[in-house]
Amino acid sequence: MINNWLKVNFSDFFTKKAKQDKLRARSWFKLDEINRKYNLFKPNINVIDLGSSPGSWSQYAINKIKPNGKIIACDILSMYPINGVKFIQGNFCNDKIFYKLIEIGKNNIQLILSDASPNISGISLIDNKNFYNLLIKIILLCRKVLTKNGNLVMKIFYNREINRYMKIISLLFTYVKINKPIASKSKSKEVYIIAIKYKF
Ligand SMILES: C[S@@+](CC[C@H](N)C(=O)[O-])C[C@H]1O[C@@H](n2cnc3c(N)ncnc32)[C@H](O)[C@@H]1O
Repeated sequence: MINNWLKVNFSDFFTKKAKQDKLRARSWFKLDEINRKYNLFKPNINVIDLGSSPGSWSQYAINKIKPNGKIIACDILSMYPINGVKFIQGNFCNDKIFYKLIEIGKNNIQLILSDASPNISGISLIDNKNFYNLLIKIILLCRKVLTKNGNLVMKIFYNREINRYMKIISLLFTYVKINKPIASKSKSKEVYIIAIKYKF
């Protein structure tokens, strides 16, 4: 009960703080928390940020990968420019956008972030299938652009299939964890898969 109260009030806290700090979204705090725990960002790494709009993750990442790191961000929606971030507008599951990411990624990406989620219908069969399709696309992207020992952070909605997702990802990465950041609303089913050290 108290735990729930704390989470709801933390949630307000993060929304207010994001405004105060002129961050594009409260999601910034989720990535910060994940990074503090898993130490994913290093100077000069290259990053793909999927589902990037309005841009708080790119905003966070660009400060961590200075001076020579690059970010390729992609979203169906538009995004106001961020210095040092190359933005591609479109659905990354669409072949044209997918191959553009591969072309620009040049097999030299050390971190893939995905905060994208398909539209939630509330029908678990459909929602699980949509997340599964997203997962497969992201895995294909890892195969094409992620360097050995690279990392992946991917949002999913907690569901019955999660163990299956973890098994699939474990084939490709040395460690796979699930994280629910404090900044994530407690009533939201979202969790993040953190996949560390790409094996290939
Ligand atoms: C929660 S928001 C991301 C917030 C972002 N990480 C930030 O910090 O500002 C999720 C975004 O994913 C995008 N999205 C969902 N599915 C996508 C897809 N298949 N391709 C590209 N963008 C997608 C949505 O348009 C939405 O802007």
